[in-house]
Amino acid sequence: MATAQMSISPEDLSQVPQGSEKIPEPGILVIFGASGDLTRRKLLPALFHLEQAGLLPEKFAIVGTARRPLGNQFAEDMRGGIIEFGGIEASAPKLDDFISRISYLPLRFDHPGDYIELKAELERIAQEKGIGGRRLFYLATAPESFAGIIENLGAQGMAQPEQGKVSVVIEKPFGHDLESARELNRQVNAVFHEDQVFRIDHYLGKETVQNILVFRFANGIFEPIWNRNYVDHVQITVAETLGVEGRGPFYEKAGALRDVVQNHVMELLSLVALEPPSSFEAESVRREKRKVWRAIPSIPILNVVRGQYGAGQINGQPVVSYRDEERVSPNSGTETYAAVKLEVENWRWAGVPFYLRAGKRMQKRVTEIDIQFKQPPLLIFDRLAKSQNCQTIKPNLLTLRIQPDEGIALRFGAKVPTTLEMDVCPVKMDFDYAAAFGKSSANGYERLLLDAMLGDQTLFSHRDGVETTWALYTPILEAWANKKPEKFPNYAAGSWGPECGDHLIASGGHAWRNNLGKKV
Ligand code: BG6
Repeated sequence: MATAQMSISPEDLSQVPQGSEKIPEPGILVIFGASGDLTRRKLLPALFHLEQAGLLPEKFAIVGTARRPLGNQFAEDMRGGIIEFGGIEASAPKLDDFISRISYLPLRFDHPGDYIELKAELERIAQEKGIGGRRLFYLATAPESFAGIIENLGAQGMAQPEQGKVSVVIEKPFGHDLESARELNRQVNAVFHEDQVFRIDHYLGKETVQNILVFRFANGIFEPIWNRNYVDHVQITVAETLGVEGRGPFYEKAGALRDVVQNHVMELLSLVALEPPSSFEAESVRREKRKVWRAIPSIPILNVVRGQYGAGQINGQPVVSYRDEERVSPNSGTETYAAVKLEVENWRWAGVPFYLRAGKRMQKRVTEIDIQFKQPPLLIFDRLAKSQNCQTIKPNLLTLRIQPDEGIALRFGAKVPTTLEMDVCPVKMDFDYAAAFGKSSANGYERLLLDAMLGDQTLFSHRDGVETTWALYTPILEAWANKKPEKFPNYAAGSWGPECGDHLIASGGHAWRNNLGKKV
């Protein structure tokens, strides 16, 4: 297909704001579960990126805690993580100074006595460095430990110190169904006020995800057609080539619906479907998202299908089946793929199907939102083109490439330059993030950590939002728990998922777009 590259001039680029004036007040960030992968791969690289951008306060300390006695080794491990995953040179300016602000304290999450030590240690650091009472507790542990940590922080009076604000960041998964999410919300809110709570979904830290709102509401031309009169259907795909990467015990209890659909995919859906918020304030944005989720009628069980990968090939390399992964049951019924068909029943979207799918060990790593528009009411040109490169007129398609190859493309029909026929060929206009703004080594946590330190909850989930999305999927999860799938594994690693996923979308008269990524 022909491509019309969209260009952005240097004058446009000079308008791009190069950083923010906002710097959080001095404080201590305490990471629970700091020996895990998240801290080394994402959090510390993101914090160092903030440091490089001059966005961390001068008086700032990071305290890692976990069960293992790691001592000084911890800070050195973090240095390794920053270099390996943050795209940072070992000799980078500021790195040594940054590492010197990191310390470690072994802590058993369920031992109240250990929190007395933690409190004393935080007071000691605060005094030594002249830091006030600002604290950010980051819960990056296994979800089973969240409630206990929160209770212990409360019991030691660490949730409400006199001198400064205290916030808590809670990683996903937030609960494993509606009841457990409600219970966790009750436990959290018994200790922390809702405005201290930051329920994280790292997808909201991605530039391309935030850009959905900018695309829709900072431009005048898309909003008028962003509705049931013009949109035929929407597809959201979160495909990964990765398997479970040693997280077998976690994933066995989670599965694709809990791990990715209930949170990341539903966040993407809400940003595509929401009404214009009155401002970019936390309450306005979160209210509009909630309205979208609440407008989704209960999802019939037949509109959700599941799959599990068997052995196959990823990028030409053989990979084992899910059931053969480390610490996974050899007859596991956990889904590694889920697809959903749903509707948003409001004036804007009634009758427009939304198809969602998420899977591991798929053919390609790609997260993409495809908005397919209706065909013109009357086609005055031949539907079938006669020229070699184009077979048929295709409907307009707007593709939001969330990752990788971040960008936005619009497909439309153009006349093939020939004197004989009026052949129409699909072409595309393509905006490429990296070409316009340069490549970035940011991982999305920069924005979320900074916002949490600044107390801005816009990009974090509210308790009602989490409960609403769980309410939609809990009946499905319960039905699945009661009936083991008969035909697992049902898709080969390296494919586009099971046949039942194709049948699901075909039942609405559509087909998955499988040439995802750069091509439209
Ligand atoms: C996490 C899931 O929330 O998101 C993982 O637990 C998944 O299973 C990951 O791999 C995907 O995130 P990203 O940013 O790598 O697309």
